[in-house]
Amino acid sequence: MPSGMNRRSFLQTTLGVAASTLLPRSLLTAQSRSSSPLAYDATPGAPPEPFQFPRDFYWGVATASYQIEGAWKEDGKGESIWDRFSHTVGKIKGAATGDVACDSYHRYKEDIALMRALNLNSYRFSIAWPRIQPTGTGPVNQKGLDYYSRLVDSALEAKLRPLPTLYHWDLPQALEDKGGWPNRDLVGYFADYCSITAKAFGDRIKTWAIFNEPWIFTLLGYHAGTHAPGRANPADFLHATHTVNLAQGQAFRAVKAAHSDAKVGAACNTSHGEPKTSSAADKAAAERYNAFRNQWFVDPPMKGEYPRLLVDRIPPEALGIKPGDMEIAKVPLDFLGINYYDRQLVADAEGWETLHIKGENGEQGPHSEFGWEVWPDSFYKLLMRMSNDYGKPVIEITENGCSYGDTPDEHGRVPDQRRTNFYRGYVGAVARAIKDGANIRGYHAWSLLDNFEWAEGYSQRFGLTYVDFRTQKRTIKDSGRWYGQLAATGKLS
Ligand code: GCO
Repeated sequence: MPSGMNRRSFLQTTLGVAASTLLPRSLLTAQSRSSSPLAYDATPGAPPEPFQFPRDFYWGVATASYQIEGAWKEDGKGESIWDRFSHTVGKIKGAATGDVACDSYHRYKEDIALMRALNLNSYRFSIAWPRIQPTGTGPVNQKGLDYYSRLVDSALEAKLRPLPTLYHWDLPQALEDKGGWPNRDLVGYFADYCSITAKAFGDRIKTWAIFNEPWIFTLLGYHAGTHAPGRANPADFLHATHTVNLAQGQAFRAVKAAHSDAKVGAACNTSHGEPKTSSAADKAAAERYNAFRNQWFVDPPMKGEYPRLLVDRIPPEALGIKPGDMEIAKVPLDFLGINYYDRQLVADAEGWETLHIKGENGEQGPHSEFGWEVWPDSFYKLLMRMSNDYGKPVIEITENGCSYGDTPDEHGRVPDQRRTNFYRGYVGAVARAIKDGANIRGYHAWSLLDNFEWAEGYSQRFGLTYVDFRTQKRTIKDSGRWYGQLAATGKLS
């Protein structure tokens, strides 16, 4: 520890530094790299070998309520932190909001028809807490429940398995006003909301994901301040991570108590930390990175502890751990949902205040328009790592995708070859991991539609379907057609 710096000032000052080194993808401002659609043809990394996926494999897409629904104050919905944040001048690129987004609240049938056209059998969407309980703790809003009930029925009619995420970042603003995720009271409020939701839909929904990317929303929301609610306080961030781990445990129990046959898992944002050189110091730094980035919300449920590599660097009092907490956090998740976008090259660095880590983006592969490196081999490694570290759990890919801004040509087609290349490479990595023993049951592309990309507004297009935001017209891109063929046959070639 540098002299003059105590543990507390470490936590307050240095995780701020860590944020910039540990947070590659999400703190990046989107840097458009101008490259033509044909800038490269080959998929980088290991070329995928032909593979036949099992018949019962889930092929799906993922979306999130705030990113697609719109209807931000319709049918009794309460204000969320993302409504408040996007309505605050200067927070979102282009002053964009999710007020309308893809208008999926009104067009969900059309969106389900798109999934049908793509031959999919799983739909990962999220339920907006403020539609169900407008102030987070108050009475239930029947119209909100009715909307998701219609959505679930339509999905089932289209032979899609509904896989909702219970929390994809749209916290009721009233709960942020009570302190937000650093406030432990949210554990109970969240469990109540999960119980209401599971009781309402558990007859038709059998698989649930609790939190979407807890590491990202706690870090960006409470530490970096670049996402809602826009706070920048390292101590709050650490407390928020612990509250969320407790809430994950109680939500798991609440859903199981409502319907004992429910399968309940998580959707974790992961990255593969690779040592920048073969030195022992860089290897150790990569391990610390993986512990913080990939295991912080998985070790507590699966092992009842925080990653051992970090416990003496981030002490229990900084998290607000109380006796009995780790028993609350420990629950046998039925599946691990993996959201994956890119890798990090990690070097050992001066200053234990950054956990002795310095991360950088990989530069070997091409880059998507968000600036993220396309390197499927790292996805394979991450999957094998998660599989081996947690005793071959059931894994679902809950998100994987890329941003490219291709638009319709004069024939109305969207020839987005780079996205098809991306998916071929990353689905190939999944195939390799299955061949090597990982128990992977499903894959969800991010995303069905171009949508509201958080602080980036509408500037980053992740969809298999192009959306004209002036008219709401949807056009399946060439990559969508390719993915639809893959879903129909399960054959990667
Ligand atoms: C996240 C979310 C998605 C994003 C996607 C692309 O990772 O931030 O789960 O909502 O839109 O990952 O950034």
